[in-house]
Amino acid sequence: MTLRPLIIGDLVVPVPVVQAGMGVQVAKSALAAAAARAGAIGCISSVGIGSLTGSLVNYLNESNKKLAQEIRLARQLAPQGVLAVNIMVALSNYDEIIKVCVDEKVDIIISGAGLPLSLPGCTVGSPVKLIPVISSGRAMSVILKTWHRRYQRLPDAVIVEGPLCGGHLGFTYAQLAAPATVGIAMLLADVRAVLAPFEAEYGRRVPVLGAENISTVEDVHAMLALGFDGVQIGTRFFCTEEAGIDEKSKRFYAKATSKDIVVINSPVGMPVRVLRNRLVERLLAGEKIPFGCPFRCLRACDARAAKFCIAEALTKTLFGDIDNALLMTGCGIGEVNNILPAEEFLAPLTKLVR
Ligand SMILES: Cc1cc2nc3c(=O)[nH]c(=O)nc-3n(C[C@H](O)[C@H](O)[C@H](O)COP(=O)(O)O)c2cc1C
Repeated sequence: MTLRPLIIGDLVVPVPVVQAGMGVQVAKSALAAAAARAGAIGCISSVGIGSLTGSLVNYLNESNKKLAQEIRLARQLAPQGVLAVNIMVALSNYDEIIKVCVDEKVDIIISGAGLPLSLPGCTVGSPVKLIPVISSGRAMSVILKTWHRRYQRLPDAVIVEGPLCGGHLGFTYAQLAAPATVGIAMLLADVRAVLAPFEAEYGRRVPVLGAENISTVEDVHAMLALGFDGVQIGTRFFCTEEAGIDEKSKRFYAKATSKDIVVINSPVGMPVRVLRNRLVERLLAGEKIPFGCPFRCLRACDARAAKFCIAEALTKTLFGDIDNALLMTGCGIGEVNNILPAEEFLAPLTKLVR
């Protein structure tokens, strides 16, 4: 058996896997470079990438400076690899972060948690590939129509996040309670149908990648068998040696089971799937966790109404303060039982590359 490479414009990705951008320093240069060296797409998450002290002084400058450093480091560690940066549309510094990516010549920008309608306008003249993240054919349609009308441009690839994904979820609570009604195979068919007329007009096929619940190499093959051109994987990469967070957080994930999963409201304005801990118990009991909003990191976050500060809670994940951390997870957490080098997880796929 061989693996078909993922072709995104002039980029050839031997292992058709995106190591997901995971925010607040989970996915930095070390993880992205390890994934890229193994033949996959390594991805740095741009959110909360600065040091805590630097961010408290000047969040914007610190984020820009640190992201540029991380991109350069990843390039040094994986000079031949394909490198992406994940930028959430919800970020208050969205445009600035895109500029850093263009200036630092990353290969790909991956953008979701909102519709990246203005993305091509911010990258004019740059060869950077643009990959929107969506969870419905409707979202795909809005992006395609807007990009066509404003920029005469197609996405270079698309990532479809299903209802079993980790992190923020582009679904209603009713859909999440009945995930089969928005199953990933159905989403793929919807997205392909919406893409078809645009692909015909531009004379180019758009690769579609699937994301949710991938913890094993068999899960990757199952997604490819559904017709996806590649996959994006988050939770499994959280429990890798290269992930940038404290060992205590990784160990907590490795011990967790699917019974520990719960979906709560995020200040981002979307449901978010997390592991149950003391913070989540307090939130579910209706408590509001006081905070000062030092970073103003999210456009849509109303700090007076928000029940907790997501930046603060993810910083607790970074430092291994399990009780107070926001522990975002996908539904595959029960299959993630160890902490391993990213390369070891990808090795069975790398071996299939011709
Ligand atoms: C800990 C964690 C952090 C994440 N952070 C981000 C992020 O910063 N931006 C983003 O677009 N998606 C983020 N995601 C979602 C992932 O990009 C990915 O699509 C998802 O994790 C795939 O599902 P899986 O975890 O079941 O593999 C995160 C997911 C996890 C588990």
